[in-house]
Amino acid sequence: MKRLFVKTWGCQMNVYDSQRMADVLAPMGYAPVDRPDDADMVILNTCHIREKATEKVFSELGRLRAAKQARQDAGKGDMMIAVAGCVAQAEGAEITARAPFVDLVFGPQTYHELPDMVATAARQGGLVNTDFPVEAKFDHLPDAAADPGVSAFLSVQEGCDKFCTFCVVPYTRGAEYSRPVDRIVEEARRLVARGAREITLLGQNVNAFHGDGPDGKAWGLGRLIYRLAEIEGLARIRYTTSHPRDMDDALIRAHGEVPQLMPFLHLPVQSGADRVLAAMNRKHTADHYRAIVDRLRDARPDLALSSDFIVGFPGETAADFAETLRLVTEIGFAQAYSFKYSARAGTPAAALDDPLSDAEKSDRLTALQQLLNEQQLAFNHAMVGRTIPVLFDRAGRKPGQIQGRSPWMQSVHVVAPARLCGSIETVRIDQALANSLSATLVLRDAVALAPDVPDAPARARAAHRAAAAGR
Ligand code: SAH
Ligand code: SF4
Ligand code: F3S
Repeated sequence: MKRLFVKTWGCQMNVYDSQRMADVLAPMGYAPVDRPDDADMVILNTCHIREKATEKVFSELGRLRAAKQARQDAGKGDMMIAVAGCVAQAEGAEITARAPFVDLVFGPQTYHELPDMVATAARQGGLVNTDFPVEAKFDHLPDAAADPGVSAFLSVQEGCDKFCTFCVVPYTRGAEYSRPVDRIVEEARRLVARGAREITLLGQNVNAFHGDGPDGKAWGLGRLIYRLAEIEGLARIRYTTSHPRDMDDALIRAHGEVPQLMPFLHLPVQSGADRVLAAMNRKHTADHYRAIVDRLRDARPDLALSSDFIVGFPGETAADFAETLRLVTEIGFAQAYSFKYSARAGTPAAALDDPLSDAEKSDRLTALQQLLNEQQLAFNHAMVGRTIPVLFDRAGRKPGQIQGRSPWMQSVHVVAPARLCGSIETVRIDQALANSLSATLVLRDAVALAPDVPDAPARARAAHRAAAAGR
């Protein structure tokens, strides 16, 4: 057996890809280990989205160089070091120039060629492959791993044609590609047969999905979700990351009609100011976003929202930033990610004048995060005393505990036997913390007596509005 250590940064797509790389390498005798020190091969699956993400790769490479040397000195043989993912795609040969001890650099569209690449790199070293091959990688990857876990990822779409002016993804992942519906359904069935109860459909722009359907027509994500909901045993469906522009009628309808589709949606908006949205090339206004959220909430009143925000985009004024705060206050998010703008070489925004000081950007980020944190806490607090279904998927942090997710993605822990992992149980929420909920298991025979799942997000929203009005 050869030891394989994979370290993953970035989005869920990278998490999925890392699993697939391990699947591709398994027939070559590589088995995953959880430490790099004694590994025969180390793959860094990297993210290029912001400068900090990229820097991490080079500091990790510094550590690995020492580990590789130590292994050689101890006469234990070589440690092959590979850099995959979006930094590999964007920086390619620069990586081997800056870190010549790296054996292999390969981009996200080449993972199916891994066995060949590993063999070549072992012979000659220093292989760089950042091609976008004509054949689709997905058609050449083996089945997903034997144990997908209770909550599994499934890539349905990859790449992006949106070209937001700040973003590297269209360059690192390439053009949009959607997998055929039949293959997705087959993979979903296999995942469920191997124990998955929840599937999260992945794509850089997952709702731009337009895969070939069995009827020869292109299917949208909404239609795909209706199809997947027919799979027996698949209790929960989620998807990420979506773009406001691609939220079409069928998908919105699915939120109202498909009970397996969970009432939680990550829908990045980036900014609340139309000037900034235009400069970002997001192709929608703040009101367009509000209108979509209204339609989604009409379809599914208990829908909770999550989003991404960028503060300090070049040219963002104090008034623009105030518009972002206003949008957040109006909508009420259950959770969110927010970032300081990071200029990325090769993107159009990197050429824009950026007079705002870093201190000013930090202040805006702090203010936004404070508001978002308050909303998250209010959302979690509105759950206390409620009875909700939780899909348990792992051991808890404390002994005797298990942990799972609410329909709204909150992490919930209870004292309960580990055998309940993999099942959906009704719990009563006792306490809300900033990032999780603690709960008590409701006895199974009492489930039928439990009240309906409450409209907690609507209550949280009302709480935000009341708080905002009183400010
Ligand atoms: N496809 C998704 C997001 C992919 S990147 C979408 O369309 O929204 C994830 C998040 O990283 C983005 O939503 C954005 O908020 C952030 N991001 C991307 N590029 C960035 C940059 N140059 N600086 C700061 N944040 C960035
Ligand atoms: Fe990047 Fe925009 Fe594409 Fe999202 S939609 S991946 S932010 S270019
Ligand atoms: Fe990062 Fe690439 Fe994902 S840049 S966010 S790993 S698509």
